[in-house]
Order: sequence, then structure tokens, then C-alpha cells
Amino acid sequence: MSSSTEPLGPSRQPTLGADMRRDLSDAPFLLAARGRQPSRLPVWFMRQAGRSLPEYRRLRTGVDMLSACFDADLLTEITLQPVRRHGVDAAILFSDIVVPLRAAGVDVEISSGVGPVVRSPVRTASDVDQLPELHTEQVDAVAGGVRALVGELGGTPLIGFAGAPFTLASYLVEGGPSKNHERTKALMHAEPELWHRLMDRLATMAVTFLRAQLAAGADAVQLFDSWAGALSERDYRRFVLPHSSKVFAGIADAGVPGIHFGVGTGELLPAMREAGADVVGVDWRVPLDEAARRMSAGGRDAPVVQGNLDPALLLASWPVVEDEVHRIVEEGRAAAGHVFNLGHGVLPDADPTVLTRIVELVHGLRPGPTGR
Ligand code: CP3
Repeated sequence: MSSSTEPLGPSRQPTLGADMRRDLSDAPFLLAARGRQPSRLPVWFMRQAGRSLPEYRRLRTGVDMLSACFDADLLTEITLQPVRRHGVDAAILFSDIVVPLRAAGVDVEISSGVGPVVRSPVRTASDVDQLPELHTEQVDAVAGGVRALVGELGGTPLIGFAGAPFTLASYLVEGGPSKNHERTKALMHAEPELWHRLMDRLATMAVTFLRAQLAAGADAVQLFDSWAGALSERDYRRFVLPHSSKVFAGIADAGVPGIHFGVGTGELLPAMREAGADVVGVDWRVPLDEAARRMSAGGRDAPVVQGNLDPALLLASWPVVEDEVHRIVEEGRAAAGHVFNLGHGVLPDADPTVLTRIVELVHGLRPGPTGR
């Protein structure tokens, strides 16, 4: 049934086998993510590849954010910078959640100090129907960067990522960052059928973007639903969970660990785990032992957690940071595994030398759950 005019759909997406990935079976990050015993407690930082690093700011001079994301050499170098500097246990691809939208042809910019800005917000049925599909070859530059990275990273795993359908929908519907997500919530309740159509398209786009990264060799993925915490559990389950589940199901054949993260999601943790993640990221508002308790309620297995130092505390004195790291690591022992991280991204004003000290401190602490 194929013809030259047929659009490339999910059926044409790359197949993903374990044979296309490096064998990193001893990597502490991958072991912990699978609930197995790592040789040391793994640590990486969300937004480690970015503005807190002077070497990043130098490279980005005169290059706008999204251009950098489509330059394979530049994104490779920026991804490697924090790995070299901090000795973290995983690299995270330098990209952005709006990269697949831009690649597909949506007019979106990242405005410095603001975030993603969409020129024509998506609010009507015709807006949704006109949202372009993402084709794998439109993110060839990203895949090229991933291939170069897995060649250069040695034993360090590379985390690929995508924005979850809800967080992307919020930027598209609001037209930019939003405090209350009011147009987004109004749309999901007033026009549920249209809402689900939009979310389905964004889920397909996330799957295409993640599969391109996985086919190029990414070792794990994180699905960022940064703003899901704005929703009640009831609305999350009805309007969001089926679509985030579709994303995890769409990459399950790769067999790599999946992480799911959002901010302010204390009430949503069990539901977010149900989307199909192996690891659930927790922000600083809920202690990790309490997060593990919530996610194992009803007789479920203990989860693997990631988190959750408050990024603001990177600006406090070292003894404060040290105490918090010890507390978090102890609380993390209630889970089936713990990947140390911040509760959200590194803030631009954070002192990178503090991040390096945190890595050294975490690596010196005993890994694994209580009693192992
Ligand atoms: O180190 C890493 O984590 C990898 C790179 C990464 C970026 N964006 C680079 C970036 C990742 C994983 C993201 C994801 C992302 N982008 C999310 C989810 C993660 C989260 O923080 O919740 C979101 C919500 C976005 C949208 C976005 N892009 C925002 C809100 C901003 C900040 C705007 C600002 O200037 O305050 C961006 C821009 C952005 N993405 C920067 C970086 C390094 C800063 C751009 C710059 O250097 O000027």
C-alpha cells in the first residue's frame, strides 16, 4: 500500500533492539533504575547541561537556543560538558521539549528568561487538525548528536527525553508559559473529544521523537510532564494518563528504563507510575520515603525513585546542602532503588562547584535500600 506521497507514519519508525545499544550492564544509573543493586549511588541533575555552566554560556554566545538544539556538533559538546565537569552517572541530551514541535514545522521560539512561545496558539478543532505530524528524518540532527554522544561517553549512559503530551499541550494552548493553565483546563473540560485528539497527536509526536533517540543509541528516557502537578488526580487520570501511557507503551520494545517526572505531583505519584515508568521522579515537596509509601499503597511493589534536593538550596551554604543530601539518601532507602537528583532543574545562578561536591558526597554514601 505504499506510495511516494504517503506520509511517514509510526509504522515507518525504526525498530529498536537491544543489539543497537552499548552494553552498559554495570552502569550504576541503569542498575538502580531497574531496581538492582548498583556499585555506587548514581546521581545526575536535571538541567545539568545548561546555564549554570560558564563553558555552556560561552558556546551559546550568539546562537539561539533552538538553533543549538539542531546543531549535532554543538548539542554533543554541550551534553558532554557536565559529564566532564561533575562526573555524573548519566548524561542528558541537550535538547528541549519543544524541539519536535519546531522540527515538525510549528512556529515556536524559546525566549530567554521566559520559555517556549508559540506564535499561533492551538485552540480550535481546525488548529488541532492542522498540527503537523513529526517525521523521523526531521530530527536527524538530534539523532546524529545521539550517535556521536554514545561514541564519546564511554561507560556513561545517555538519557534521551521528550515532553509529555500535557506539558506540550499547555504550551500550545496557552501560547507560552502559564501559571494557571486556564485555557488548557477549560479546553479539556469543555471539549473533551477535541482535547483527546490533541493529546493523541502529541503522544504520537513524543513516541516518534523518543524512538529516533533510541534508534541512535540512547540508553534510557525521561518523559517530562513538568506541569502535570497543576491537575487534580481525577483530571489527570481522565485527561492525561491514557496519553502518557501511550508514550511509554510506544517505546516499550526498546527495553530501556523509562523515567517519569513532574513538579508538584505529590498527589499524582501513583497515577504517574501507572503510565508505565520504571522510575518516578519526585520534586522536593514530598520526602522520598513518603513518595515510596504512596506508590506502594494497595500492595504494589516498592518503586524506584529519583530526586529530590530542592534546587534553591544549591544557593545555601555547604553544611546545609550536606545535611539535606544525607537526609534524602536515607529517605531514599525506603524505595526499591534511588537515583539521586534535584527536585527540579539546576537554577541558572547555582554554583557549579556545589554540584560537583554533591556528586562526590553521593558517591561516598552506601547505595541501596535499607537492609540490603
Ligand atoms: O540538562 C538538561 O536537562 C538537558 C536539557 C534540557 C533543556 N530543556 C535545555 C534548556 C531539558 C531536559 C529541557 C526540558 C524542558 N524544556 C522542560 C522540562 C524540564 C523542566 O525544567 O521542567 C521544559 C518545561 C522546557 C521548556 C523550557 N525551555 C523552559 C521553561 C526554558 C527556560 C526559559 C528560561 O530562559 O528561563 C527553556 C529553555 C532552555 N531549555 C534552556 C536550556 C539549557 C535555557 C536556554 C538558555 O540557555 O538560554
